[in-house]
Amino acid sequence: MKKLTLSILAAAVASLSHYASAVTIRMECPTSPGGKDYCSYVKARFEKTTGDTLEFVELPAASDEKLALLQQLFAAKDEKAVDVFQSDTIWIGLLDKHTLDLTDEFGKTRDRYFKGAWNNDTLNGRLKALPFYLDVGMLYYRKDLLEKYQEQPPKTWEELTRIATKIQDEERKSGRNNFWGMVFQGKSYEGLTCNALEWINSSGGGTFVDEKGNITINNPQAAKILDLAASWIGKITPKGALGYKEEESRAVFQNGDALFMRNWPYAYQLSQGDDSPLRDKVGIMPLPSGEGGESSATLGGWQWSVNANTQNKAAVYALLKIVADDDAQKVALKTMGFTPSNPALYKDKEVLATAPQLALFAPVFDAAIARPATPTRAQYPKVSNAIFNQVFQVLNGNANGQNAVVALEKRLQRIKGQQWR
Ligand code: GLC
Repeated sequence: MKKLTLSILAAAVASLSHYASAVTIRMECPTSPGGKDYCSYVKARFEKTTGDTLEFVELPAASDEKLALLQQLFAAKDEKAVDVFQSDTIWIGLLDKHTLDLTDEFGKTRDRYFKGAWNNDTLNGRLKALPFYLDVGMLYYRKDLLEKYQEQPPKTWEELTRIATKIQDEERKSGRNNFWGMVFQGKSYEGLTCNALEWINSSGGGTFVDEKGNITINNPQAAKILDLAASWIGKITPKGALGYKEEESRAVFQNGDALFMRNWPYAYQLSQGDDSPLRDKVGIMPLPSGEGGESSATLGGWQWSVNANTQNKAAVYALLKIVADDDAQKVALKTMGFTPSNPALYKDKEVLATAPQLALFAPVFDAAIARPATPTRAQYPKVSNAIFNQVFQVLNGNANGQNAVVALEKRLQRIKGQQWR
């Protein structure tokens, strides 16, 4: 009898202590379409396995705006604001001080990830974030329209311009006055830096700042391709594109109102959804190149980072184990079109059956071009700001390519001073 009472008591204490230790943690929920479904899935799994509670926080969609907000939160030492959030590829060094070192818990999972993504998230041998999904710039095109007008997908920007002009003219003749040749991300924000890097590097004009930290932007190839991109505005690209981020450009394309679109991989899965008017009509390929250059895709993507001040490490680790596993990566692909950071899934028959486009992305990931975040160190946000502002001036007709590359070189020299730091 005594024994029984004791064991009942022990069980009660155990359940009480579990109750007392249940915690609430906060994770950033992606703002992408499908994000809510993905988050409900993560919440259900997390709460079932841990008995803890998961709440969600929404942060701005634009990378540079989100960084500014996170930096404010960290400066205010508001440790409860968010435990787990997504960092852009270019922030790992910038946020080093504010993010937890994950090496002890996750260092051994290295083989699960694309090497490039893992290395991007490792600083001086310390794992500072866990790769979530990878991004590369791709060209989307309307297969049905290229076929209708007997054109091939373009290999160069010049060809893209010609085909877009021709097909836009023809489509408008048949009364489709809202039809455009090309959409991309032309707003003055981080996404424009990504587009401009692709134009310029694919023309042999380099990466603004090279790996050694030298400023390389003042060159004729860069000036020329910026002029070409500017010539699209109001002709084959709507003026409104000067306000487009990813989702605005996708909305136009997915509505059937554009022939070509530059975007990240996520847009493909969404264009093939049951409710998409473009089901089976979309092709995707590496971006065109300029004269004397090679197709270049900017490397992007997002990583799970942990607020260094989190009060609940055990729960956070349990959450990271869930979001990093194969099942969660498949759900992220299905709901939001996010391309997994785990290369094994690119060979998984079940995954390939529903997302055959993955086979196309893997080689592009390998050759993708980094923005100059590593050589410009903590200065990168200023560097990128200078880039997108200057490129925007060319797109909106306030500067030509030649003036812009000279002005940008000067501005970057001022930011650099003696050394990038
Ligand atoms: C995508 C990329 C990210 C980039 C951003 C720019 O989200 O993954 O790396 O900074 O687009 O808009």
